Amino acid sequence: MPQLIDNYQRKFEYLRLSITDVCNFKCTYCLPNGYKPEGRKQFLTLPEIKQLVSVFAQLGTKKVRITGGEPSLRKDFCDIIAAAKRTQGIEKVATTTNGYRLAKDAHAWRDAGLDAINVSIDSLDPRLFHQITGENLFAKVMAGVETALKLDFQAVKVNTVLMRQLNAHQLGEFLHWIKDLPVQLRFIELMQTHDNHDLFQQQHVAGSTIMKQLLAQGWVEKIRQSTDGPARVFAHPDYAGEVGLIMPYEAHFCDSCNRLRVSSLGRLHLCLFGEQGVDLRDLLQHPEQAAQLQQRVLDELKTKRVSHFLQQGDLGGTVHLASIGG
Ligand code: GTP
Ligand code: 5AD
Ligand code: SF4
Repeated sequence: MPQLIDNYQRKFEYLRLSITDVCNFKCTYCLPNGYKPEGRKQFLTLPEIKQLVSVFAQLGTKKVRITGGEPSLRKDFCDIIAAAKRTQGIEKVATTTNGYRLAKDAHAWRDAGLDAINVSIDSLDPRLFHQITGENLFAKVMAGVETALKLDFQAVKVNTVLMRQLNAHQLGEFLHWIKDLPVQLRFIELMQTHDNHDLFQQQHVAGSTIMKQLLAQGWVEKIRQSTDGPARVFAHPDYAGEVGLIMPYEAHFCDSCNRLRVSSLGRLHLCLFGEQGVDLRDLLQHPEQAAQLQQRVLDELKTKRVSHFLQQGDLGGTVHLASIGG
């Protein structure tokens, strides 16, 4: 069976599947104007998702991350987790969530087969959390993280988008928080999209400023495995938690790209930035279309560029990250 390997010998065993672009938060960097429904969208159905994951698994996909929008807003979220987990060849099912339903539903997700969770928390200050997300729900999301940590997930990670005036100066508070907490706290460099131009100009700060502070405080970068994605991970003997840095504006960020994305409308995106994607949905209607679908994905992968050449000002086709799941 052919495998998902591109012209630069990168192997793609990780599928990020968005199941909705609806979100109930309005993070300033992501959905500054809130979620704007554009007509009635028909997101991928459960049978379409089953077919998609099965075909990707036949091509060597081992890990599926269910994204959004906010994926847990879908009523059939647990069925989607269970279907992905049951697919032959899929070893790991993860999700990225804003944490809104975590405290209440993490048990059910775990029971459905979810292996790992990434939760977005951009500030440890409830007031700033409210300002950034548009929701006064800091305590609820933190309670969700605690619930998740009590269940036996393989990993619970926290995503924090770095913003100059809002959280970049609070490294001390963040590190204090993970002293005894076994989470990987990932600082994500703010990315420019069509929706967040002014905010990007005001708030973008390079992840390397955090890296310098970590190294000065005795944090050591962990050795990367060939299957690791672009995050760089740092550990310290005195801390239960780890720090991850996602720095898409750094040179060679894309060398370790290991993921493909499918949007909630069934379009394959080879990169978070840069292109409109290719439709897969017409080939998700009957099991007999599997070979044709495989061929379309393989053909498209041949066109993946070595890098997205993501530079400030080069926005590609991404209006906001909720549209293709980050
Ligand atoms: P793991 O599967 O745990 O390694 O996490 P992940 O980083 O793949 O997933 P997550 O959904 O937590 O990603 C968080 C955010 O990091 C995304 O929403 C993006 O903002 C950013 N990110 C992740 N992967 C990429 C990538 O390949 N390119 C770029 N530019 N950003 C990425
Ligand atoms: N830049 C960086 N990260 C972003 N996310 C959404 N929009 C952006 C952006 N413009 C991230 C959030 C969350 C994930 C779903 O997407 O932090 O962790
Ligand atoms: Fe919603 Fe996530 Fe975007 Fe925030 S970053 S608005 S939680 S999709």
